[in-house]
Amino acid sequence: MSRAPIRKVVFPVGGLGTRFLPATKSMPKEMLPVVDKPLIHYAFEEARAAGIEQFIFVTGRNKHGIEDHFDHVYELQSHLSTKNKRRELELTSDWLPSPGNVSFTRQQEPLGLGHAVWCARHLIGDEPFAVILADDMVQSKTPCLKQMVNAYHEVGGNIVAVMDIPRSETKSYGIVDIDKSARTRDKRLVKAKGLVEKPAPDEAPSTLSIIGRYILQPEIFDILGRQERGAIGEIQLTDAISTMIGKQNVYGYRFEGTRYDCGGLVGFVAANVAWALGRKDIHDKMLDELKRIPALDTRMSGMYKKPGQRYSAGME
Ligand code: UTP
Repeated sequence: MSRAPIRKVVFPVGGLGTRFLPATKSMPKEMLPVVDKPLIHYAFEEARAAGIEQFIFVTGRNKHGIEDHFDHVYELQSHLSTKNKRRELELTSDWLPSPGNVSFTRQQEPLGLGHAVWCARHLIGDEPFAVILADDMVQSKTPCLKQMVNAYHEVGGNIVAVMDIPRSETKSYGIVDIDKSARTRDKRLVKAKGLVEKPAPDEAPSTLSIIGRYILQPEIFDILGRQERGAIGEIQLTDAISTMIGKQNVYGYRFEGTRYDCGGLVGFVAANVAWALGRKDIHDKMLDELKRIPALDTRMSGMYKKPGQRYSAGME
């Protein structure tokens, strides 16, 4: 099974981000900030920490902000330089990838995640690669993709990041059908005998769901090239990976860490709180602020005020 090094990552950023309207009317979802960095910046840092050298963005309409983020901004840099604001200068550009190591290609129509990944086929060529969905954030000791790359060095093949979810939620995820007869040395790895996209709870083969981190072999492009539509009429990456099972090994990797679904409002706001609390410079102030929010005040919990709910006199 191929264990060629993982040098390239695909960031599919062609989605419309309708769950964040009106915020995403004129700005890409991936540029929404968690504390002080856009979602896509965290994805980029995670890829780099895993040893990735080439960064491929599959964009769509209205995504220029992402290209600009990964470029110099001369006017601002010259202003900061004149004012001798070294720290701010570092934040604008010290982390930029080397010239030529960033590519952008366009997914002309949002036909699904599988289609977005397929759009990167010529930029990937004939080697294994990683995929990171920027709207899935994982807070962990070792960055999630790095954990997966370490596991990949042991077993090769294809690896998807997985986590247990409540059975009632299987309809929102790709679910792993676990090959219980297969033994793996790394207890975080499970071998898959199938993957099912968005099954109903009573039809789901397990509650192990796929989240937005993948290590894939290039043969996936042949399958995606058939352009077969799956759940919700989209070209599904999960279906293509499932088709590879039998010809190639596919593993689920139970990563260490906490995942935040930043594609939705609640997960995104929760990630902001989690990352703020994880920062030494603002942790204490953040906690103080949280304690000041009336709806979080436990002394008032019996009288918790839901948005739009009215209370009797004295509470308004
Ligand atoms: P989502 O299902 O979250 O879709 O895509 P979305 O359009 O971004 O968001 P909503 O539902 O309208 O709010 C999951 C991931 O797959 C990418 C998205 O950018 C996101 O990272 N994606 C999805 C594409 O790149 N292209 C597609 O055609 C679909």
